[in-house]
Amino acid sequence: MEKKKIKAFAPASVANVGCGFDVLGFAMDKVGDSLEIELTSQAGIQIQAIQGQGNLSTDPEKNVCGVVAKAMLDKLNHQGGLNLQLTKGILPGSGLGSSAASSAVTAFAVNELFNRPFTELQLVEFAMLGEKLASGTAHADNVAPALMGGFVAVRSYEPLDIIKIPFPDELYCTVIHPKIELRTELSRNILKQQVPLKTAIRQWGNVAGLIAGLYSDNYELIGRSLTDYIVEPVRSLLIPGYARLTEAAFLAGALGSGISGSGPSVFSLCKGKETANDVAKAFQEKAILMGLPFDVYVSKISKMGCRIIE
Ligand code: HSE
Repeated sequence: MEKKKIKAFAPASVANVGCGFDVLGFAMDKVGDSLEIELTSQAGIQIQAIQGQGNLSTDPEKNVCGVVAKAMLDKLNHQGGLNLQLTKGILPGSGLGSSAASSAVTAFAVNELFNRPFTELQLVEFAMLGEKLASGTAHADNVAPALMGGFVAVRSYEPLDIIKIPFPDELYCTVIHPKIELRTELSRNILKQQVPLKTAIRQWGNVAGLIAGLYSDNYELIGRSLTDYIVEPVRSLLIPGYARLTEAAFLAGALGSGISGSGPSVFSLCKGKETANDVAKAFQEKAILMGLPFDVYVSKISKMGCRIIE
């Protein structure tokens, strides 16, 4: 029997994690989007309401939830429709996986309503359609952790191959979201399409080091492997006070820092909650000095991805 109505939640996520552009990401706790979804006998997708942060379209063809839900109903050859009510806890254009959370929660909730006809990997593929609508590219480094929780690596896009990476218990992140909107599409379009071999070598050394550090609970190795030689030098120019924020985090004890997703949020990884809170204070002090409006989050890397909340 198909269920009639459920409410589900998808967490915010940090994508790229420094050196892993488009291939690494992790889920945060608490902050995220929720979706109420109901089966209707009438065909078609209705987005009845969007509450919370941002100013998004309720046109199902222009909204990531509508696009993901439609693709799933088509695949199921379902004749009825869906009513959706989305509550945004993540501001679009923040670099915290806002479109990904909405896409992921839709894929998850539709699958639950129909008693799980799809695999987890198929859900990631459906959610990637939302990312394509939002940013022009179907990347998985936010939708995969939002759906699956934890720390993930996208080993391959064609075919899609996603690996869950274990991580140390005391790994926390502190994120500052300077309140300017940075559209992912723009911050992707400014990237160079060619990477010199020497730079690529330094970068994949860091990816290897980061994964090894996560597997072996080696916090120092995690910290020194985060550096991104390819994307950060370009994108950081769009983030006011980027160097000052990352320096303040370093002085407060962070293992390392980087741009969260496509920015403008900046994340630090920390060993333990106390250091993560110190970094949050350092971020706040810097942002106030610079006159930047901001939000700060301290979060354990969350093992939980999408879940039913009602
Ligand atoms: N990997 C993506 C990017 C994440 O950096 O553009 C943001 O959606």
